[in-house]
Amino acid sequence: MSALHGKVVLITGGSSGIGRATGERLASMGCHVALLGRNREALDDAVRAVETHGVQGLATPADVTDSEQVKAAVDATVAKFGRLDILVCSAGLSMRAYFERSKLDACEQVMRVNFFGSMYATWHAIPHVKKTHGSLVAVSSLTGKRGIPSYALYGASKFAVTGLYEALRVELRRDKVHVGVVSPAFVDTPLRTNVLGPDGKPWETPPAPPFRVWPVRKCVDRIIRLIVGRKREALLPGFAGMLLGFDKLTNGFVGDRMLARRFPPEKS
Ligand SMILES: NC(=O)c1ccc[n+]([C@@H]2O[C@H](COP(=O)([O-])OP(=O)(O)OC[C@H]3O[C@@H](n4cnc5c(N)ncnc54)[C@H](OP(=O)(O)O)[C@@H]3O)[C@@H](O)[C@H]2O)c1
Repeated sequence: MSALHGKVVLITGGSSGIGRATGERLASMGCHVALLGRNREALDDAVRAVETHGVQGLATPADVTDSEQVKAAVDATVAKFGRLDILVCSAGLSMRAYFERSKLDACEQVMRVNFFGSMYATWHAIPHVKKTHGSLVAVSSLTGKRGIPSYALYGASKFAVTGLYEALRVELRRDKVHVGVVSPAFVDTPLRTNVLGPDGKPWETPPAPPFRVWPVRKCVDRIIRLIVGRKREALLPGFAGMLLGFDKLTNGFVGDRMLARRFPPEKS
């Protein structure tokens, strides 16, 4: 029997991509899964997929930028299952645009969804996860570990999530709560086709990803390993750790040069 059998999980961004796939994997390991998102139809479909594994699912429709809606989703999860063991914050959106061209309200929206969305869910989940000595997991990004041109705002929102979770890991240690961050490179999900441009609207033709795109299954593997091993961090790909270490060692010299070639300055 899996170590996670019978655990109760709430996943923000559970209606699509990494969040949905993580819900299905956790369900296959015997977890009961509540899924949070705005799209009711997609949530119901994801819940049906979860329940094919013989566990219970729950759709908790909510907008993560609204703290009260997130609280209601956490409360609904605890009301149905009696407990909450694991929170996975996966709700997010991507923006690819050079910073000086980006509209400020678009920048604010990225922070609202990616940072405040994770922060609200975490804040409301903490009292419940403390009771079960469970896990808080954030899906960040490699752009939250190293500045990448044209991902300034997206990266900033992920740096913020990582910073919050780094501190929480220490703050909640005495309560035996596991706090971990998963930082993937590009993953093959619908996020790719909905990337926001500088005006905050999705690109008509999204720019091609500048690096390899990894299958969602690989990302879910990292998330599960992080939860089961109660690890602090997981990277996708694993060798990103070595590259980041080398980048630090050269004071950013090698990374800056490589990134400047891949992301030439915009023509004015
Ligand atoms: N795909 C990648 O290349 C990649 C790489 C690194 C990190 N990530 C991170 O991984 C996480 C999941 O992304 P994904 O690739 O799985 O993207 P996705 O397939 O587009 O899923 C995004 C999820 O976030 C939810 N969401 C967005 N705005 C929301 C809001 N205001 N309130 C509630 N839910 C909201 C969406 O649900 P609704 O539309 O139903 O609201 C959806 O379930 C994100 O945090 C992303 O930044 C992705």
